[in-house]
Amino acid sequence: MCIPLLIPEPLTAQAPGLDPRVSELLARMTLEEKVGEMTQLTLQAVSATAASDTSVHTLDPTTLEDAVVRHHVGSILNVWDAAFTVEHWHEVITTIQDAARRKRLPIPVLYGIDAVHGHNYLQGGTLFPQNIAMAATWNPDLVRRANEITAYEVRASGIPWNFSPVLDIGRQPLWSRFFETFGEDPYLASVMGVAAVEGLQGENVGDPIRVAATAKHFLGYSVPHTGKDRTTAWIPERRLREEVLPSFAAAIDAGVRTVMVNSGDINGVPVHADRRILVDLLRDELGFDGVVVSDWEDIIKLHTVHRVAASRKEAVAIAIMAGVDMSMVPLELEFTEHLVELVREGVVPESRIDEAVSRILDLKFDLGLFDDPYPDPTLAGGIGSAEARSVSRLAAEEAITLVENRGGLLPLRRGSRVLVTGPGAHSVAALHGSWTYTWQGIQESVYPADVITPLEAIRREFGEHQVTYVPGAGFHTMLDVDEAVRAARDADVAVVVLAEEPSTEKPGDIHDLMLSDAQRTLALEIAATGTPVVVVLLANRPRVIRDVAEVAGAVILAYQSGPHGGEALADVLSGDANPSGRLPFTYPRYTGDLMTDDHRHAERLDGHNGWNGFRPQWPFGHGLSYTRFTYDNLHVHQSELDIGDTLRVSVDVRNAGKRAGKEVVHLFVSDVYASVAPPVRRLRAFTKVELAPGEHRTVTLAVPVSELAFVGLDGSWIVEPGSFVAAVADQRSTFVVRAIEDAVESIPQKPRARAKATSPSPAGLGQSWRDG
Ligand code: BGC
Repeated sequence: MCIPLLIPEPLTAQAPGLDPRVSELLARMTLEEKVGEMTQLTLQAVSATAASDTSVHTLDPTTLEDAVVRHHVGSILNVWDAAFTVEHWHEVITTIQDAARRKRLPIPVLYGIDAVHGHNYLQGGTLFPQNIAMAATWNPDLVRRANEITAYEVRASGIPWNFSPVLDIGRQPLWSRFFETFGEDPYLASVMGVAAVEGLQGENVGDPIRVAATAKHFLGYSVPHTGKDRTTAWIPERRLREEVLPSFAAAIDAGVRTVMVNSGDINGVPVHADRRILVDLLRDELGFDGVVVSDWEDIIKLHTVHRVAASRKEAVAIAIMAGVDMSMVPLELEFTEHLVELVREGVVPESRIDEAVSRILDLKFDLGLFDDPYPDPTLAGGIGSAEARSVSRLAAEEAITLVENRGGLLPLRRGSRVLVTGPGAHSVAALHGSWTYTWQGIQESVYPADVITPLEAIRREFGEHQVTYVPGAGFHTMLDVDEAVRAARDADVAVVVLAEEPSTEKPGDIHDLMLSDAQRTLALEIAATGTPVVVVLLANRPRVIRDVAEVAGAVILAYQSGPHGGEALADVLSGDANPSGRLPFTYPRYTGDLMTDDHRHAERLDGHNGWNGFRPQWPFGHGLSYTRFTYDNLHVHQSELDIGDTLRVSVDVRNAGKRAGKEVVHLFVSDVYASVAPPVRRLRAFTKVELAPGEHRTVTLAVPVSELAFVGLDGSWIVEPGSFVAAVADQRSTFVVRAIEDAVESIPQKPRARAKATSPSPAGLGQSWRDG
């Protein structure tokens, strides 16, 4: 046995501030009832049939009764790979809550679901672009509104808890869930993550059109060393705090109600077994007071996969003592039996159970489940509204990122003869990505009949007779490449829609970041005809396409932009829409050059001994427009700042072209010298503006100086005095942060940006000559 020796402080259930309704209820509960509250089963475990066939899915009254009434199971999740109608959801939720009423203490069941890009398990629900595409819009208002709509539709189905947003940082392009992230940058991911949490939860999570959000997957899930899902992440403390933690810290500050744990391990310690992460960091440092739910089967996997527990029972003890409040078991009831035994044997103190159950009950009260746990039928009519669809449509359009446009190939001339080819051209699955009606999203037969593919949208936009379609290649195989090449010769332009087969989690593990040979061959052979090629990419992650990018006239990243992605793409091709998406990650040119924008100077090696240096295919923040924006007059309001001040940077942005367009204004700040090698630059603020032709606007971006902090030599956040450079596009200016000891007193000390004024470091002292 290797049961942790640390015993938690007893009974926060009695802690001041606890809702008296919770303590009263807790006092009446038996141990079995409490442990049941900590148990979460999947719908499949209480269903009579495989729920993947929605036409025949029914709950199994016997297993449901056994789980909910006899074993007091407090939470149920998901579907088994099927989207239900709203009526079926109502039936399912109502039957489950009816069962809960038959318990000795009729505590309602907390139902949770993955509605990660809209309510993807609801027929007729509104789907949005995947998070990476939402990040590419650089428009937090769109993220907030999309999540408000998702909250409405999830609640309208009778479900009060959403396992969203993913706040893992997208810095490992190989990782299969890259598309679920808001990209590589901690600041961008924090802004978008907060917008998502606010959209889902609103001011009051008990509002009948809001749901509890989940910050997942705490912590370090997205940066596995090998790139494979649910594998070891080696994360030094500085990287953990500067890159991986901020999006979670921001969501916790914004009041996110639940956190889901990373299925993998950090530095060899499975996070489900790591009290330092789940209690010391999450609770004590970040102040999270909500529910911590495990991920799928992950307590069992402490024994079967990670091998830190010699038995499944020991795994339960380890995870509960490490800070997991609810186990997504999710298929059987052994967890409850083991946990009851562990308490009776004195291995797990009952105070720890009370702590976990208090949090769960508190959430159930706040969600209003004790007042009314049943679906509100009056909400159903608002599902899939025209307004919801228009938000999705706008998000798809604002996401689309034009990264190459040689010789102004785009927009295409009306009347052009267009060849459309490639595996993404006529695939609704490639347009949506995973978590769409089914887990992997690849079962096209369950998609709504009215969703159109890029091909269909291009035909509508350019006219049936102008558009030829040849499949060309599948995701991994060549089909009729020769025919596509012949067709290209007769066309004015070829739109080659390259795509990655949607996948997520383990099924999405890959060995090579290059896009398949078959797809690249298709694009290269078409380009060799001399017909201009527009490459469109629909992908889970930035697949390397260096050879194709070199010969393409234009390249468009359309991500997985959802049901309106085809129309948005066609509008960009024709010029009806002016692209305004910007890359939320660094697009690699080589599989061996996986770097992020905030790399260190030593990683650049620019021009040094002829080494390649940092030369991504397309840099973070990049994206073209059909108009031209120019920048002028960058002005730092105060050239010398104290630690408690706010940096204000103004810049004039002009639309110097002939059509209206949206521009993302990024403020990057570089710490010129520091005691820890500083990144070349870091994104510190951004905004998106829309300008008419000829219009100019002075944009001011503000950053508290304390937010310029980094994790110093002693592991705490620090702003070292000295010179900094503020840069917006091609404009830059230097400012100085002064060393004033007392100023620190006036700064709110947040764990994620604990700013300290210190005496000048050796680097700081040398600033006058070093900064030159
Ligand atoms: C995923 C989670 C998801 C859960 C429930 C897991 O496999 O990692 O993101 O919320 O399943 O579906």
